[in-house]
Amino acid sequence: MNIIDIKSRKGGKNMKILNKLIAFSLTFVLILQSISCAQNSANNNLNVNGVTSKVNNENFKNVKLKYMGQATVRIITEDNKVIYVDPFAGDDYSMPADLILQTHSHFDHADLEKVSNRNQGCIVITEKEAIVNAKHQTFDLPFVKVVPVEAGYNQNHDVNSCVGYVLEFKNGIKVYLSGDTSKTNQMSEMASMNIDYAFFCTDGKFNMDNNEAAECAKLVNAKHNIPYHNDTSNSGIRFDRKKAEEWTAPNKLIINVNEEIELKAGEEKNNMGNSKTLVIYSSFIGEQYSVGVIEKGNTEIVADMIIENLAADRYKVEPKNDIYPRDSYKKLTEIASKELHDSARPEIKDITFDISNYDTIFVGAPVWWGDFPMIMYTLFDKVDMNGKTIVPFSTHGGSGLSGFDSKLKRLYPNAKVLKGLAITGTDTQSRKDKVKNEVEKWIKEVIN
Ligand SMILES: Cc1cc2nc3c(=O)[nH]c(=O)nc-3n(C[C@H](O)[C@H](O)[C@H](O)COP(=O)(O)O)c2cc1C
Repeated sequence: MNIIDIKSRKGGKNMKILNKLIAFSLTFVLILQSISCAQNSANNNLNVNGVTSKVNNENFKNVKLKYMGQATVRIITEDNKVIYVDPFAGDDYSMPADLILQTHSHFDHADLEKVSNRNQGCIVITEKEAIVNAKHQTFDLPFVKVVPVEAGYNQNHDVNSCVGYVLEFKNGIKVYLSGDTSKTNQMSEMASMNIDYAFFCTDGKFNMDNNEAAECAKLVNAKHNIPYHNDTSNSGIRFDRKKAEEWTAPNKLIINVNEEIELKAGEEKNNMGNSKTLVIYSSFIGEQYSVGVIEKGNTEIVADMIIENLAADRYKVEPKNDIYPRDSYKKLTEIASKELHDSARPEIKDITFDISNYDTIFVGAPVWWGDFPMIMYTLFDKVDMNGKTIVPFSTHGGSGLSGFDSKLKRLYPNAKVLKGLAITGTDTQSRKDKVKNEVEKWIKEVIN
């Protein structure tokens, strides 16, 4: 794909495309980048009374959650208490623990010795403390409320010796970790818990698969659904990104291994009154322009920031069939060029949202040949956003917003299209803090 290809095409449409791309061609050099708790709890004793540290209200920050692979999660609370859930994967156990949670005793959830660095009074809660006399207990600790919930319901996991946990932090954020499970009886009651972030195992071998876990996600009805414990290969990474991509749960959020995200309370984030916000975007992984092979697309990184900031819902526009290559940026550009030339409408996966539930819709995509990827037009053809407030954003290699705003105005003449944001693709991968500041500033400016 280069300017020569474009010139060689006949007709006014191609000249238009050429004009659109001249500005971009100056900056977008199409040379393929070389892809380029003191150890007092080793015997699992519950030591709730040992918690003496006071919550320091002045230093409240957001809760931080790091996914470490398999079912292992590290959480740092607003008041800097450190929680490890199902210690096993990863090697970043240097922060001293204040609370260790184990969902059940299988080796890949119960490597408590890995958490050898523990603060005095560190609490350990395993399934044995969580279920007493066949009853699920609750632990109201000074820095987090721990509510064990049902887990199991399959031949490998017995409901009497497995739990999931719902954690409620002081800023109101609620996180659910399913542990190892299939669909449970309790899940249909869990929607009333108003969970913000829900992790579901989706391995499909020892537990439920992607389909069943998507059903469970609908029942639990959390704001964000995160796939974990989905790798059956025993690889070092302990996370199957492809399987996660294929999961069709609503409001899906994929967290890569070793990625840390900030969890903010919905009320704090959403400064748009009672309106509900949806972020619709496309984004592609694999070999990409100027960033080599990426595991999370540039636009998805920006979408995540918007979603986190506004407690928005998510819909990622994804092709129904695996039509975009991940191994070659060049091949991808050729396919995209043909799609643009043909005004193609590639088939997309099911639309899982109801547009009537939303007032404000952020619409984002990578710039492909000076335009939205054609797959976005498949969605635009199916979803009427007239009457809504639309906020466009792009990531790009030099072409900026590429008229996303005016294109949306043309498509939806009765929508209010607000000022868009264009982010340089490479910055999303290597200058996340800078991008985050830009995104926050823009959101404050356009939404008030
Ligand atoms: C098929 C294709 C066409 C592209 N065309 C342009 C373009 O016209 N202008 C531009 O600035 N960047 C272009 N890029 C670069 C992408 O817009 C940029 O890398 C973007 O951040 C990728 O986002 P993603 O990782 O979310 O898919 C193109 C990339 C691809 C794969």
